[in-house]
Amino acid sequence: MNAFIKSVGVYVPKNILTNVDLEKRVDTTDAWISSRTGIRERQIIEDASIKTSDIATAAAREAIERAGIDASEVDGIIAGSMSYERAFPALACLVAKEVGCTNAFAVDITAACAAMPYAINIATLMIRAGQAKNILIVGAEICSRIVDWSDRATCVLFGDAAGALLLSATEENRGVLASTLKADGRQGDILYLGGDSKFLKMDGAAVFKLAVTELAAVTKQTLEKVDYKVSDLDLFVPHQANVRIIESVGARLGIAPEKVMINVDRYGNTSSASIPLALYEALEEGRLKPGMLVALSAFGGGITWGCNVIRW
Ligand code: ACO
Repeated sequence: MNAFIKSVGVYVPKNILTNVDLEKRVDTTDAWISSRTGIRERQIIEDASIKTSDIATAAAREAIERAGIDASEVDGIIAGSMSYERAFPALACLVAKEVGCTNAFAVDITAACAAMPYAINIATLMIRAGQAKNILIVGAEICSRIVDWSDRATCVLFGDAAGALLLSATEENRGVLASTLKADGRQGDILYLGGDSKFLKMDGAAVFKLAVTELAAVTKQTLEKVDYKVSDLDLFVPHQANVRIIESVGARLGIAPEKVMINVDRYGNTSSASIPLALYEALEEGRLKPGMLVALSAFGGGITWGCNVIRW
């Protein structure tokens, strides 16, 4: 039995905050943000009554609908976020309740921006073991509530969004071929939230350096597990943190720029939602088609990172 991504759902807030809008809020410039990050605009939820679980639910509903299954057929929900509305119940439990997944286990993964490769790997193993047929994976973030709007080095980087993937069992020779998960707790202080800070704290330069080195290495290593080379890839979908990080990883790997998915320019860093959001757009744009070899790679607080290689 294999596990494949049957459908993708997203929720993107309507309210756009451009770099020029940000110039009025913080001591920054469109030129600085564009040149250092590649980000031009991001979506921000201003309505305080909207919760992380609301946007997670919207993305989850779309993924279930697009998969053509009933919510009762979902055997499990794995959610990731760095902007949880509650310590518990888990975000996955809140989504289960709203969507009507009454037959599903529900659990959260704390891997910040790297939640997707972790969740995909765990869901794949459960499906392969015959423990589940359909697992819903959700990444949802209201980053605008966890950044310090007086810290120009972080608040310009993030956006709000949610994304969901429905992983299903198949006997076909496709789906998630290999995954690699990594973590280095010794580097936890370069990117964190909580403890002595109620806002996200980041050593940008340290994150940048590690992200470039490790994303390139983990992608190559995961491809090698299934005897593929970087040149075999049809599409590389990295976590969307910063165009400079993505381009540096692409250059290190030697991937042609047209095979690299980039949409951070229009959404900012949406953390755990970024990979579903990039996959959704790649599908809509016809850049992702059945049979393609795809690598999803992400890097986040913890620090945590990982990669999934998928035959789409
Ligand atoms: N506007 C204008 N100036 C700014 C801003 C801003 N928004 N932010 C910082 N600066 C200033 C700094 O104060 C500094 O000024 P100084 O030289 O007078 O001291 C100068 O710009 C340079 O600052 P650096 O931090 O050295 O700038 P750098 O080129 O390293 O870019 C950035 C900073 C964009 C944060 C970069 O380090 C980066 O992208 N790091 C990775 C961040 C990231 O992607 N994090 C998330 C990944 S993991 C996850 O997704 C959870």
